[in-house]
Amino acid sequence: MTDLFSKFDPLIQQREDLLATGVTDPFSLVMERVVSPTVAICNGRETILLGTYNYMGMTFDEDVIAAGKDALEKFGSGTTGSRVLNGTYQGHKECEDALKEFYAMDHAMVFSTGYQANLGIISTIAGKGDYVILDIDSHASIYDGCAMGNAEIVAFRHNDVEALEKRLKRLPPEAGKLVVLEGVYSMLGDIAPLKDMIRVSKEAGAMVLVDEAHSMGFIGENGRGVAEAQGVLDDVDFVIGTFSKSVGTVGGFCVSNHPKFEILRLVCRPYVFTASLPPSVVATAATSIRKLMHGSNKRAHLWENSKTLHKGLRDLGFTLGTEEPQSAIIAVIMPDLEKGAMMWEALLEEGLYVNLARPPATPAGMTLLRCSLCAEHSIEQVGEILGRFERAGKRVGIIG
Ligand SMILES: Cc1ncc(COP(=O)(O)O)c(C=O)c1O
Repeated sequence: MTDLFSKFDPLIQQREDLLATGVTDPFSLVMERVVSPTVAICNGRETILLGTYNYMGMTFDEDVIAAGKDALEKFGSGTTGSRVLNGTYQGHKECEDALKEFYAMDHAMVFSTGYQANLGIISTIAGKGDYVILDIDSHASIYDGCAMGNAEIVAFRHNDVEALEKRLKRLPPEAGKLVVLEGVYSMLGDIAPLKDMIRVSKEAGAMVLVDEAHSMGFIGENGRGVAEAQGVLDDVDFVIGTFSKSVGTVGGFCVSNHPKFEILRLVCRPYVFTASLPPSVVATAATSIRKLMHGSNKRAHLWENSKTLHKGLRDLGFTLGTEEPQSAIIAVIMPDLEKGAMMWEALLEEGLYVNLARPPATPAGMTLLRCSLCAEHSIEQVGEILGRFERAGKRVGIIG
């Protein structure tokens, strides 16, 4: 018998080698209690959360929690099936109505996760003979959506408008084309030049999908994302998003003005063949989305936090993923995986939780400590975070 697990041997070895250095397994942390959007108890210690994507801090919002409790009591704990068979609950409709209003678009379709939204939309609308043109640093759910469908896949260099244009010009003019972009790329926290990318895509007759997972709620005047901030939202055919970041719960969605959009409810397999979100989840999502429409003060404070942390870390001597803060994600580049894991552990001992990210999730083989800021982080907490980075960085020898 061939052991089907033998393909994982190199990864198992790499993990064992890392643990043999004495470092704690960065992927087995347990949060014993979560106190607020910015604080949890980890290993019995009060820890500042700086790696949760909880950008707008909605997880403990009292209206959000009340809506969830109410729906749990009135509609029960789950839908026990797909909307196509078991029916749409009032809460699903309210959630889709909130999304349509949030984006000022005609159609909204809620999926069980953002991963499934990308999987479903990309694999369903780009079929045999069509082309999906995507940034090489796209999220796994975008790649998996491509792998599940039958379209030809064409990748172009990260955030390179010329490379995108060249690829588009080589494709048959009459072929169906879907250009897939992200507003914020979550590994380095950099934003896409959507304005130019959408212009060249439209000139080539392509439809455009933008995944705004890491920008919804925060970037743009109304929190609609990078496409809104760059004044090109009207040219985007499909916006994909998630409830697992700024919205503060779980779920995914696609919004669009395409007149035939609703047919997707019958043909999109990751929508049809899976259970719909529980009533409490869609109730929390709808309440959170409606509150995010009035979140401009929070957005302004989050920008302040992002600028303060970026400048502070750079002044301390850390190497960062972007020259300027472009989003609520600040990536600190580590020399290698071993040093990255040591720094991650040192920060945890200081009472600071960040994400350790490594290849293949990261671009160019980088090891990153990814920080995601929250609108609920106070100025004092950001100061604390910088102090903890300084102490840990000196102890591990990342900074002098
Ligand atoms: C760009 C992007 N798209 C989609 C997703 C998937 O979202 P979800 O957590 O809702 O599955 C993520 C999650 O990390 C993401 O970063």
